[in-house]
Amino acid sequence: MSSPAQPATVPFDLRSLTAAEVYALLTHAVAPRPVAWVSTLSKDGRPNLAPYSYFNVGGQNPPSVVFAPNTTGDGGEKDTLRNIRETGEYVINIASREQAAAMAATAVDLPHGKSEWDAVGLESVPSQSVTPSRVRGCPFALECRLHQIVSHGEGPGAANYVIGEVTVAHVDRSFLNAAGEATSLDSAVCGGVGRLGGDWYVDARGEALFQLGRPD
Ligand SMILES: Cc1cc2nc3c(=O)[nH]c(=O)nc-3n(C[C@H](O)[C@H](O)[C@H](O)COP(=O)(O)O)c2cc1C
Repeated sequence: MSSPAQPATVPFDLRSLTAAEVYALLTHAVAPRPVAWVSTLSKDGRPNLAPYSYFNVGGQNPPSVVFAPNTTGDGGEKDTLRNIRETGEYVINIASREQAAAMAATAVDLPHGKSEWDAVGLESVPSQSVTPSRVRGCPFALECRLHQIVSHGEGPGAANYVIGEVTVAHVDRSFLNAAGEATSLDSAVCGGVGRLGGDWYVDARGEALFQLGRPD
């Protein structure tokens, strides 16, 4: 219960919090988040794979997606960002619930050029319009070309928004209608894995789902 003396919410001025406190607050507030499992190649052709939950779709004309690798603790670039800056190509794989643990395991911090694919034991499938491969078994995979990188801030934890255009989307055959079209996808069938705060994830199936109509 709230009263004038004790309102229901408490305001926090984020400028007075530490970076770790801001991270904890924002990642619990902005949840669940989809996870982009991003496949890239270094400019000398070494494969890299890492999960990014600062991720969303932004438009469809053209098909546009964004995710945000943060600047590292030593002020450097994550391998994914460096590879995309150098090659302009990537694949955003969407992991199934069965792949979620492998997806999280690819967040391991390997030296530049060492492959998370090998570390986690994943199989790759060649892409159609970009050079990096996609992850076998993912229900969706989005082949992307870099549009723009927009950095917000400097130093550890700064956002680097990677905006990309989706050229080809791969869809699990079992999600398609009888005519083989992807025009009537059903969330009760597609499901989805989302990241919450801390180590929590959500498996968007069963009782986690509900429907709301749109206003007329
Ligand atoms: C589920 C999950 C989501 C993550 N999301 C982000 C994110 O949105 N931005 C980020 O900078 N790091 C994120 N991380 C951490 C990166 O995956 C981690 O730093 C990884 O080592 C980066 O790999 P790379 O240097 O090969 O690109 C996430 C980790 C996990 C497990």
